[in-house]
Amino acid sequence: MRVVILGSGRGSNAEAILRAQAAGRLESARVVQIFSDQPDAGILDLGERFGVSARYLDPAPFKTKLEGAGESRYIAAIRECAPDLVVLAGFMRVIKLGFLDAFAGKIINLHPSLLPSFPGLDAIGQAWARGVKITGCTVHSVTAEVDGGPIIDQAAVRIEPSDTLETLREKVHAAEHTLLPSVIARLSKAVQPSPLPLTTE
Ligand code: GAR
Repeated sequence: MRVVILGSGRGSNAEAILRAQAAGRLESARVVQIFSDQPDAGILDLGERFGVSARYLDPAPFKTKLEGAGESRYIAAIRECAPDLVVLAGFMRVIKLGFLDAFAGKIINLHPSLLPSFPGLDAIGQAWARGVKITGCTVHSVTAEVDGGPIIDQAAVRIEPSDTLETLREKVHAAEHTLLPSVIARLSKAVQPSPLPLTTE
């Protein structure tokens, strides 16, 4: 299963995926490309460390969504990777219909709350401010509704009296680092292997 990762930030979840792959825990999934919409994002450093192509791809002209020329650039570049799965791992940009149609049924997103609670930005801060006792993280299929697609799996995190917002962030991220690779491994079991070549070279 060919996996393309999109991210905007430090890339700790992309790193968790690549570590799982290196440890043989990703079943038949293989990360073939990482793209970032931020030229200085930490996620781009993973390319050299893990021997995977990683590059900045210009998302212009919009700041918070992927549409127009930027969307076309992403569609064309990702199509060249022939992905079976596109993983949004901290890709902080709203995906629009053109992209959704191009990779229909193949896009998953990681979100740091137990959806449908706390969609949108700073989900961990939202959960903390609301005073919930259990939060967590979600992997879901991506649809036109932001953070609203069908839920694939979730992991719960209990908020203890001794927690601070900072320790809660660490706990949710740790849960993400286990959940996302495990979902990708499971999905790879459902993907048919590529047809065998008919001739040998
Ligand atoms: C993760 O916590 C992910 O759930 C979140 O961005 C972070 C990326 O961290 N995504 C969203 O909030 C999407 N709505 P990372 O760059 O270290 O993987």
